[in-house]
Amino acid sequence: MTKWVESDDGSYTAYSEQYDEHYHSTKDGALNESLKKHVQPAFVLYGNKKHLKIIDICFGLGFNTLLSLYYRDRYFPNMTLEIYSPELDGALVASLVDFPYPEIFKPYQKVIKELATAGQYEDEWTRITVEITDARVAMRELEGIWDVCYQDAFSPASNPVLWTKEYFADVARLIGNEGILTTYSMALATRLALYENGLNIYLNQGEGYRSATVASVRELENLEKIDMEHKIACNPDATSLRDENLAL
Ligand SMILES: C[S@@+](CC[C@H](N)C(=O)[O-])C[C@H]1O[C@@H](n2cnc3c(N)ncnc32)[C@H](O)[C@@H]1O
Repeated sequence: MTKWVESDDGSYTAYSEQYDEHYHSTKDGALNESLKKHVQPAFVLYGNKKHLKIIDICFGLGFNTLLSLYYRDRYFPNMTLEIYSPELDGALVASLVDFPYPEIFKPYQKVIKELATAGQYEDEWTRITVEITDARVAMRELEGIWDVCYQDAFSPASNPVLWTKEYFADVARLIGNEGILTTYSMALATRLALYENGLNIYLNQGEGYRSATVASVRELENLEKIDMEHKIACNPDATSLRDENLAL
């Protein structure tokens, strides 16, 4: 059962009884969180690209996908955008035609309807695929190189399968040497799982939202790099989540 809830920036999110978690930080606000932790970091780095490819883990209420669309249309109208987003909950996606989205998503009613009913939207500038599938399997099978992965699953505590070292190995393969991963998670276990896959870890910090993480193989000039060797030395017992320790 999923209930709609107003968050602190006035945008609506939802609460999942199954995971006992909100879909967004109610304090940061759903729209604000999506903007600051995912969409802005991606477009700051890749605004000059002609074609931007994003993996959105997982679609949920679709904020990260819809806000990417809005952001591209508003600031980078000459960029073509491709988004692939797996989501386990088909009933949730089908229900999104009735979700009380923020005003800025009003122009995307047709997009929302097509994603909710057919899982696909395409025009001259945009291709979005929402696949009702297990993201864990999808990341193993997806091909190509992607610029960005929005890592926005439920928390490592309630959905550990999407935070293991082995899961991030698949994501790391998909974003290659040039791509970035954005996530709200600041957990050392998450950062370790990324670091053990060869990614550098950066702090995404700013006004009006709780700090978050960006990870990439490439060096990022505009963000503060976390000294992971120091973190490991200070926390010798810390480990990444591993598949072998989960009941998969
Ligand atoms: C925090 S919400 C995503 C919020 C979304 N990014 C947004 O902006 O609205 C997490 C989502 O992950 C989905 N999920 C959980 N486990 C999954 C899995 N193994 N594969 C695909 N989706 C999964 C849940 O159904 C839920 O919709």
